[in-house]
Amino acid sequence: MPAPDSSQNRYPEGRAAFPHRHLLGVGDLARHEILYLLDQAEEWVALNKRAAKHADRLAGLTIINAFFENSTRTLLSFEIAGKRLGADVVNMHAAQSSVKKGETLIDTALTLNAMRADAIVIRHASSGAVRLIADKVDCPVLNAGDGQHEHPTQGLLDALTLRQALGKAVGDDLNGRKVTICGDILHSRVARSNILCLTALGAEVRVCAPPALMPSQVAAMGVEPFHDFDAALAGAEVVMMLRLQQERMSGRFIPSAREYRHLYGLTLERLAKAAPQALVMHPGPMNRGVEIDSNVADLAERSLITRQVENGVAIRMACLEVLTRKRRGVEGWA
Ligand code: CP
Repeated sequence: MPAPDSSQNRYPEGRAAFPHRHLLGVGDLARHEILYLLDQAEEWVALNKRAAKHADRLAGLTIINAFFENSTRTLLSFEIAGKRLGADVVNMHAAQSSVKKGETLIDTALTLNAMRADAIVIRHASSGAVRLIADKVDCPVLNAGDGQHEHPTQGLLDALTLRQALGKAVGDDLNGRKVTICGDILHSRVARSNILCLTALGAEVRVCAPPALMPSQVAAMGVEPFHDFDAALAGAEVVMMLRLQQERMSGRFIPSAREYRHLYGLTLERLAKAAPQALVMHPGPMNRGVEIDSNVADLAERSLITRQVENGVAIRMACLEVLTRKRRGVEGWA
């Protein structure tokens, strides 16, 4: 694959590297578009390591983060990303907004649009809500997680983190690398975006969950489903753990947290069943002592969890910078 020519924002053969107006899901992206965003993020990874972390690429632009669900990592990293790029960033927390007075999602979106936002970042509890808003506004919309559907920037930041940790270079994919994702696959938008992203980059992905937390058609996404965690770990180079999404469960999906930990919790003993020096990932927030033990989450060298958070800022900078190019009149993005 040719390296992206970032000076012209196009691949050498003249193909537009990122033709999308919005970032709604990894499922909308071609392999070369995923790689383009990862490669663009490397520039911001380098900037974020410096003492002075400011760039003025988005100076004068207004970014609104509209969060209808709680968040620590995604909200703060989008805010930091926008500010490091020089934009004016405003956060709207639904709990303190007129949503509480009965205003609809569409009316809220039209209100943000009327304020001439240059990009809107949305998290919402309903799958598809972000696409609904994207159809109503004039600016790029970025999905910060919609229900059980997708969390595209999480999938991208996890792929970036993995590419770095596996010693891959800019432009490289994850061809043949063995990744096991374990947890509440059924309710997890992180699982969905990661499956789409990792398989697009050539990784061999296994998913593991109790039968009640495994989507029935998951194999059609190109992954191998397991209910036995020990079997799913054999040969895995990367183990990605997910929390139980209690907020999306109606009824009981597991007998008890204790039994869940016994069968699906990542302990040191269980990690030893994976490939030697297997890497550990978790998108957060973690429930220590349930899906992952503290002595695994905090493993020096092998746990990538804080690196995932660090790369979250860079990926969100890349997505904001690329998606606003047309509005900023960047050459080649008319
Ligand atoms: N990983 C993630 O989306 O975390 P937050 O819910 O804290 O944003």
